Amino acid sequence: MAQLWGGRFTKETDQLVYNFNASIGFDQKFLAQDVRGSRTHVTMLAKQGILTDQEKEQILEGLSGILRDVENGTLPITAEYEDIHSFVEANLIERIGDVGKKLHTGRSRNDQVALDMRLYVRDEIRETDGLLKALLEVLNRLMEEHVGTYMPGFTHLQKAQPVTLAHHLGAYFEMFKRDRGRLADIYERMNYCPLGSGALAGTTYPLDRDHTAGLMDFYGPTLNSMDGVSDRDYVIELLSAMATMMMHLSRFCEEIIIWNSNEYRFVEIDDSYSTGSSIMPQKKNPDIAELIRGKTGRVYGALFSLLTTMKGLPLAYNKDMQEDKELTFDAIDTVKGCIALFTGMLDTMGFHTGRMEESAKQGFTNATDAADYLVNHGVPFRDAHGIVGKLVLYCLEKQISLEQMSLEEYRQISPVFDETIYEAISLKTCVEKRMTLGAPGPEAMKQVIEANKQYLLGNK
Ligand code: ARG
Repeated sequence: MAQLWGGRFTKETDQLVYNFNASIGFDQKFLAQDVRGSRTHVTMLAKQGILTDQEKEQILEGLSGILRDVENGTLPITAEYEDIHSFVEANLIERIGDVGKKLHTGRSRNDQVALDMRLYVRDEIRETDGLLKALLEVLNRLMEEHVGTYMPGFTHLQKAQPVTLAHHLGAYFEMFKRDRGRLADIYERMNYCPLGSGALAGTTYPLDRDHTAGLMDFYGPTLNSMDGVSDRDYVIELLSAMATMMMHLSRFCEEIIIWNSNEYRFVEIDDSYSTGSSIMPQKKNPDIAELIRGKTGRVYGALFSLLTTMKGLPLAYNKDMQEDKELTFDAIDTVKGCIALFTGMLDTMGFHTGRMEESAKQGFTNATDAADYLVNHGVPFRDAHGIVGKLVLYCLEKQISLEQMSLEEYRQISPVFDETIYEAISLKTCVEKRMTLGAPGPEAMKQVIEANKQYLLGNK
């Protein structure tokens, strides 16, 4: 047991207590952040005359050595240390002697861990954003390819009106774009440096917190030391944004699973992203999509777990907050993995465009357009709705589609129909007439795809 705080104790910590309390098993992920924070702290201490330049240089060298040796495998991080902060400090003292004991001047593990978590989350926000951007690029490429790929649009999982694959994919483009926006918002709010908050009430040393913040690319220091050490809002915000990302991925996966079913066969998941059955040789399963859908629960769970951990905590630091780490690490790794895998699956997926178009032709997806046709010929919409309802009933009885009815049959139900009805309810017309911005018509779609391109280039 290597502890930083033995002085006021007369007995050894019970081993079970030590194990229960320790966080080295997971906060070793913070090594790079912890070293960065310490290097910055020491640099500022020297600038303020609290340490000499020589002391600073020795400590900086010692810290770099620790990072290097852990990375090259010569210095293992072991359970002998309570947490990553103890590990770094103890090893520093071992390496450079007594001067290492000055590292923690004007600092507490409370502001230290608050800083490490922020640095970590900040990096992960950037990485997640990059993964989302890569997904959006694949989506926009597919949209461009499928402006003319007709498919049924659904409500209640019932065929409703014809759309295009570009339009359907475009809905997800919007979702993931908003997800990036949420990450950017969180970044703006969280990018303030808590170091210098001390245990809770700042310190009596003349620290230059602006300098510390600037050296680590924060917008500035946090403005209340009690909040500085006990704020985990940004983690909750990130988990909330990630829960939303998983919800979006899960909805998309659900659709891919449906589209991949024998009944639909709208898509062909690439062999490299599918799995087989151990007993049924014919099977090719959408396991990746199902797993992503399944992992959504873990990320929701992380959000709820942390909200619950934080809800009863009096100011300022409480050990409960150590519980923020494992679930956050797990959620972040899960989300990043899911986005990357999903992107690969989508990028390599085949679309059976013929099947999609056939499907759009069935199920009366053009019924609204038949009603609109009547309205354009002077029939009030409510009456038109009733007339087309009768047409649909007639077709259902005869097991045909609206296009397959003869003009005579049309005229028996309403004399307003003439031979132009066929053109008016063709799939092409139904889609192309929907040209308001945001609709599936090709002109509207091309405008959106161009706007997406500009957005992805960072011009918007
Ligand atoms: N491992 C602790 C955490 O994760 C570090 C802070 C310890 N501070 C304390 N007062 N015990 O929160």
